[in-house]
Amino acid sequence: MAILLDMTRTHVPVLAGELIDLLDPRPGETAVDCTFGAGGHARLVAERIGPAGTLICIDRDPAAADRFDEFAAEVPCETRFLRAEFATGLRMLRDEGLQADLAYLDLGVSSMQLDAWERGFSYSYDAPLDMRMDPDQSLDARQVVNEWDERRLANAFRTYGDERFNKQIAREIVRRRRKSPLETTSELVDAIRAAIPAPVQRQFGGGHPAKRVFQAIRIVVNDELGSLDQALPLAWDVLRPTGRLGVISFHSLEDRRVKRFLADRGRGCICPPDLPVCVCGKTPEADVLTSRAVAPTPGEVAQNPRSKSAKLRAARKLEGGQA
Ligand SMILES: C[S@@+](CC[C@H](N)C(=O)[O-])C[C@H]1O[C@@H](n2cnc3c(N)ncnc32)[C@H](O)[C@@H]1O
Repeated sequence: MAILLDMTRTHVPVLAGELIDLLDPRPGETAVDCTFGAGGHARLVAERIGPAGTLICIDRDPAAADRFDEFAAEVPCETRFLRAEFATGLRMLRDEGLQADLAYLDLGVSSMQLDAWERGFSYSYDAPLDMRMDPDQSLDARQVVNEWDERRLANAFRTYGDERFNKQIAREIVRRRRKSPLETTSELVDAIRAAIPAPVQRQFGGGHPAKRVFQAIRIVVNDELGSLDQALPLAWDVLRPTGRLGVISFHSLEDRRVKRFLADRGRGCICPPDLPVCVCGKTPEADVLTSRAVAPTPGEVAQNPRSKSAKLRAARKLEGGQA
């Protein structure tokens, strides 16, 4: 399905047509958007479910909450907003007994968060080291950079940023912070640049040498993988049979979790192969709708470079499947 994107909005929803095609929202259905952001996906869903539908949106960022009232006034369906960490919001909905027809997560940061220079998500602006999606939480990038020991920093840069100069960068940060704490994104960028050999930096081409470390710190500060691990089963729980779940992820650590989660739900008997009869009784709960992750077209990547690493996976909950 071709979706015309409104480029006057600051956040362009990624894989929007593909998400709508897979989740197939219908008039009167109930949908949960776990990552409202600027409401790009939510708007498309709202138009599909129409006046008889209900759309519940979740986001932990107060800036998303601020945008929601205007959104709600413009869309045809009934709406509700939960400013919460998505696992917390989903748990609340499950405990209320919600039976949704579709739920989806579009992970990571929004363009508005990256462009809000003062929030410290971007290596392109000089700002305090922050990177919290929820400014009410206590852990921020400043604490990670100045309080984590060298080994923990190096591990994080490797695990969450795939940074091969992880040890050198961690060592340089620790060396600098002995003189005075690193307070700003520019100070962090300087430390990273000082730790990566100049010839390697010249090979980065269009990429920025701080990109991987910034990604790693952002993932740590916002506990992005822990949140996803908690949210996936809860999102599954709020779906009624025939309900559809979609997840758009932006790096392999996320995608691997989504892939494994959906594959587990799609699998039947898990007895060892040498058992003559099934004793586990497990039947498939899900029809996995994406045998391979859906990636953006070259056209979408050209129009919206942020979509480059996006991957979409989806599944439909089977009727009569067993938990
Ligand atoms: C990529 S943006 C979503 C953009 C949205 N789909 C759109 O089309 O405008 C991700 C949003 O999810 C929110 N978010 C990320 N992780 C979250 C979490 N664990 N709990 C709640 N919100 C989260 C971020 O604050 C951000 O606004």
